Amino acid sequence: MDRIKSRNHGLKAMVETYGCQQNVNDSQRLMGMLVRMGYELTENREEADLILMNTCAVRDNAEQRVLGNLGAIKHLKAKKPSLIVGVCGCMPQQEHIAQKIKAKYRHVDLIFGTHALYRFPSLLAETLEHRERVLDIGGESAIAEGLPTLHEGGAKAFVSVMYGCNNFCSYCIVPYVRGRERSRRAEDVVAEIRELAGRGVKEVMLLGQNVNSYGLDRGEPDAFADLLRQVNDIDGIERIRFMSSHPKDISEKLLLAMAQCPKVCKQLHLPLQSGSDKVLKDMNRRYNTEKYRNIVNRARELMPGLSLTTDIIVGFPTEKREDFDATLKILEEVRFDSIFSFIFSPREGTPAAKMKSAATEEEISARFQEMLELQNRISAEINSRCEGEIQEILVEGESKHEPDMLSGRNYANKIVNFRGDGSLKDKTVKVRITKAQTWILYGELV
Ligand code: SAM
Ligand code: SF4
Ligand code: F3S
Repeated sequence: MDRIKSRNHGLKAMVETYGCQQNVNDSQRLMGMLVRMGYELTENREEADLILMNTCAVRDNAEQRVLGNLGAIKHLKAKKPSLIVGVCGCMPQQEHIAQKIKAKYRHVDLIFGTHALYRFPSLLAETLEHRERVLDIGGESAIAEGLPTLHEGGAKAFVSVMYGCNNFCSYCIVPYVRGRERSRRAEDVVAEIRELAGRGVKEVMLLGQNVNSYGLDRGEPDAFADLLRQVNDIDGIERIRFMSSHPKDISEKLLLAMAQCPKVCKQLHLPLQSGSDKVLKDMNRRYNTEKYRNIVNRARELMPGLSLTTDIIVGFPTEKREDFDATLKILEEVRFDSIFSFIFSPREGTPAAKMKSAATEEEISARFQEMLELQNRISAEINSRCEGEIQEILVEGESKHEPDMLSGRNYANKIVNFRGDGSLKDKTVKVRITKAQTWILYGELV
């Protein structure tokens, strides 16, 4: 390692991340490995000696963005032939994409998938030593504990508790690019969070594609509820969040753990995807809207004031107008704090990609718009109800868009801006909410 470190001394590396929080967490590992290999990190492509793109394949627009950026850095390689360009993550884990990148983007030196993440140092060494293009998308991923992770600093951190997905929702590429579910041992997760708390982290977001099945691969049902309780006991940690929860196997035990653990934020991201039972069946989601409503009712009974968010796909191939109307109806009824909405994007190799669409592109984008308008109204109404409330805010720092203000998050993970001193960064403060908008709350320190 020392030899590698001295060889890389003075070299700069940049990791560009696309996609979900799990990818952000993977990039933190990649950056941790790079620092251990002697690289200095940069956010400037022009000065980088190594650019690594950690990619997302969930929708076509995510892939197009990566390919566009990959094209844009070609001239950098022409200017600096020693530059190493790598592409990793979910996109190249699909064989046809890996081959496309290899054939059409000749300036890419290193291609590897999610399963090879922990092999990155040796793949990079191979590329550098032999000056050959390296491709590694094989193998079923294991769990590699103890990888150096470069948490961003500050008071918040992502912690993956499991990898992969077994659900095969008919539209989704994730199970194909992330492999089967693999849960980390609770001891390892707890040890990592203890260490983070020792470094000043106050809020952890526990990550998995479906945390409700955490432990099932080790024969331990309801292990996530137990894990929440263990994390709740860690000194220094003030807030615990998690995502995502699949409605098909959220349990009473989990809702009880959420309700009973004071550090667990009363906030639940529970992806619904559609309000039509027919479409849910075609999506292979394995719950219906009645089950979904029952979970919401029970969760709200246990946790009054619970903040709820969800994911919705518009334009799934079998979605007809009446199915879409059912989605609008359930949004009105459940009243989510906010939704993440996506237009269906066919992913090669998934069952839904072969289905014929029941609606035209124009119809689908009109539906999308209609849903956003409805949800914006609901979000604004929900937010306006908290005007006058005093809330605990974990301060993140200067607001990005309003530099004369501080920005932080409340229990519901909503952004709250207020005037205050920069020294409050990473502290928990009390703020009275004075004005609410659809996406942001304003307040004053109390
Ligand atoms: N595992 C999480 C779950 O089931 O809730 C979701 C992970 S996925 C990265 C995030 C969201 O992307 C999904 O909930 C879904 O709404 C959306 N999504 C996944 N595949 C999609 C596709 N092919 N087209 C449009 N949206 C998609
Ligand atoms: Fe994709 Fe479904 Fe797995 Fe979520 S649960 S990652 S939507 S297959
Ligand atoms: Fe994208 Fe991979 Fe996450 S496909 S959404 S980065 S698991």
